[in-house]
Amino acid sequence: MDKIKATIIGPRGYTGAELIRILTNHPKINGINLLSLQEEGEIYEALPSFRKYIENLTIRKFSPEILEDSEVIFLCLEQNNAHKILAQMIEKGIKKFVIDLSPDFRFKEISKYKEIYKFEHSSPSLLERTSYGLTELYREEIIKSDIVANPGCYPTGFILGVAPLLSIPKYREQIQDFIIDSKSGVTGAGRKALSHLTLGYLSENIKVYAFTEHRHVPEIIEKIKEKFGVEKPVLFNAQLIPAKRGILQTIWIRLHSPPDQNEIFSAYEKFSSENYFFDFLGEELPDIYSVQGTNFIRVGMRIHKNYIMIVASIDNLVKGASGQAVQNMNIKFGFDEKEGLKNLPPSNV
Ligand SMILES: NC(=O)c1ccc[n+]([C@@H]2O[C@H](COP(=O)([O-])OP(=O)(O)OC[C@H]3O[C@@H](n4cnc5c(N)ncnc54)[C@H](OP(=O)(O)O)[C@@H]3O)[C@@H](O)[C@H]2O)c1
Repeated sequence: MDKIKATIIGPRGYTGAELIRILTNHPKINGINLLSLQEEGEIYEALPSFRKYIENLTIRKFSPEILEDSEVIFLCLEQNNAHKILAQMIEKGIKKFVIDLSPDFRFKEISKYKEIYKFEHSSPSLLERTSYGLTELYREEIIKSDIVANPGCYPTGFILGVAPLLSIPKYREQIQDFIIDSKSGVTGAGRKALSHLTLGYLSENIKVYAFTEHRHVPEIIEKIKEKFGVEKPVLFNAQLIPAKRGILQTIWIRLHSPPDQNEIFSAYEKFSSENYFFDFLGEELPDIYSVQGTNFIRVGMRIHKNYIMIVASIDNLVKGASGQAVQNMNIKFGFDEKEGLKNLPPSNV
């Protein structure tokens, strides 16, 4: 297909706005519909920095019929919305390729939605037609699917960070457990006004906000079992840091015996050479500045006796959300996977 038209539902949110930024510079996109579940308006009223860059981009109120002229639909909504929109589309006979950035399609098992996200899923039959959207590990499934469930931001950083290690069969058995220490900028929590996201609270502060009960942990456990057959304890802790965007995860892996560093580094170098957006730094450890505004995951590693420490960093809004969604769209439509994602980010330092 030469060029396609896209719809973004939820354009005023952080991930919706990031998608507008990426798609307006995408050579294969020849039109964007912006739809809101809430209200109409001009894009620059919600996103003033877009003023004059984008003319004639009005946000319209959502109705399923407006989706007719788009080949791809991005859902950038809070949980418990996307599955209802998909149900409406099916009722109206509208069949499109959908990329959902929320958790509404990430699990295959229907009971998980009630258990983890506390809502009843309205479209269990659609779960079979869905692929998990962790691009580097699910390319073949994405091409065959009608719906892509874009992963959570922490699962993206963790699963990709350990994927080359888990691809070596002997280390799957060697692992005793994973301990993940995650730090995130405030945009990871969405645009809603919450007191712990205010400048007054978070400036010069760090807040631990989730322990192993974090809702991304079941996603991590399910996907490493599905892809690598690995079932080991996952201990997790998340902290909010005084940054707008970016995630830094320090992953400790305890093995039964000391590993072979050369063998592990070779696996990471191979994965890096096969996957453009996976950048392996060897013993150098990444920071948040080096990924902000980019679609890269940057990964560094140190090995000490029988411990491996992996540090993985992503921009939660790009590789952790909208950039990865565009990577998935590119694969589905046969475009170059890097299309729309090659622009240099603003320089921060
Ligand atoms: N943020 C991340 O880093 C991240 C990463 C991975 C996945 N996700 C997932 O992606 C989905 C969307 O996340 P998000 O961060 O984009 O959420 P968000 O910023 O909270 O936006 C979600 C919705 O809230 C509405 N909204 C945003 N700002 C508003 C305002 N000032 N006044 C009124 N309504 C407003 C938007 O409505 P309109 O319809 O009017 O635009 C949008 O539909 C979520 O399910 C989230 O879990 C987020």
